[in-house]
Amino acid sequence: KKRIVSGVQPTGSIHLGNYLGAIKNWISLQNSYEALFFIVDLHAITLPYDAQLLSKATKNTAAIYLACGIDTSKASIFVQSHVRAHVELMWLLSSATPIGWLNRMIQFKEKSRKAGDENVGVALLTYPVLMASDILLYQSDFVPVGEDQKQHMELTRELAERINNLYGGRKWKKMGGRGGAIFKVPEPLIPQAGARVMSLTDGLSKMSKSAPSDQSRINLLDPKDVIANKIKRCKTDSFSGLEFDNPDRPECNNLLSIFQLITGRTKEEVARECQDMNWGTFKTLLADALIDHLHPIQVRYEEIISDPAYLDGVLLEGATKATCIADATLNSVYQAMGFVQR
Ligand code: TYM
Repeated sequence: KKRIVSGVQPTGSIHLGNYLGAIKNWISLQNSYEALFFIVDLHAITLPYDAQLLSKATKNTAAIYLACGIDTSKASIFVQSHVRAHVELMWLLSSATPIGWLNRMIQFKEKSRKAGDENVGVALLTYPVLMASDILLYQSDFVPVGEDQKQHMELTRELAERINNLYGGRKWKKMGGRGGAIFKVPEPLIPQAGARVMSLTDGLSKMSKSAPSDQSRINLLDPKDVIANKIKRCKTDSFSGLEFDNPDRPECNNLLSIFQLITGRTKEEVARECQDMNWGTFKTLLADALIDHLHPIQVRYEEIISDPAYLDGVLLEGATKATCIADATLNSVYQAMGFVQR
């Protein structure tokens, strides 16, 4: 079986962008792939954060994975920091990462600009090396993510190739290493629709956990009335009728796409159904569809979060399985890079 890995940061609350761009796709992929899903707590400390909230946010995120339908008989769920190899491999990888590659990362540029110099820790810069480590440790074939992770995935692939060239191949064989490449070069799996869910208050910026206004996103755990209110107040336009793909109507495209994904209809069906609708009618439909879709997830979430022993068990089992795979890769990297074997 081919392998997939992916993860979400436990910062802020998980929103519709995380769900439609990533988690929802994991649910169908877990049937065809060996799957590992982690909560990337080590990534969550790359910007100033509240240490008192981290562990709760990490567990809540794990509960959301389960509530959304990750099935532990098919996939492993674990906390990134529980598998020490992530940080260890990151150090090895960072020795072969040109600093220029990191300086070019769009997310680094955006986040460091927003945070201001005094708040930019070294980890914000080296973040993509940790992400590469998360992926390469598991010799992953595919990584299901939203579009904003494309550049990080490109760096991961380049880094894998670079390490393979520097330390793999014949050199490695001579040292007694097995197999061809040290790392498999992974590919991103970015969905056709949902890869970039936009803000409810501005159709040109993406829905994000860090946007100051909560009105800009639907969180998976938002209560009914909050969802209804956010959709009621979201930004629209004054064109008549509704349509996809009109560059002058980014909000319209975004809301129709959300409706399409959440109801499981095709784009053509939605385009036809909604072409003559006014905003009032459509907003009611969309709010109801969101509430119906999220309700069962919220019910399961409450069940899971009220059973901490169950959740701890899932995370322990996941970390145990992941550690096995990760340690094997880590050992071979140490060997290929010339370290004394333990
Ligand atoms: P994070 O926590 O920012 O986002 C988690 C996932 O949600 C996707 N996403 C979106 N998709 C569509 N529309 C949006 N508005 C939207 N916002 C977020 C992201 O693309 C992502 O798939 N660096 C990663 C976490 C990470 C990771 C990894 C992912 C660390 N190591 C290894 C995969 C494999 C991040 O910050 O995601």
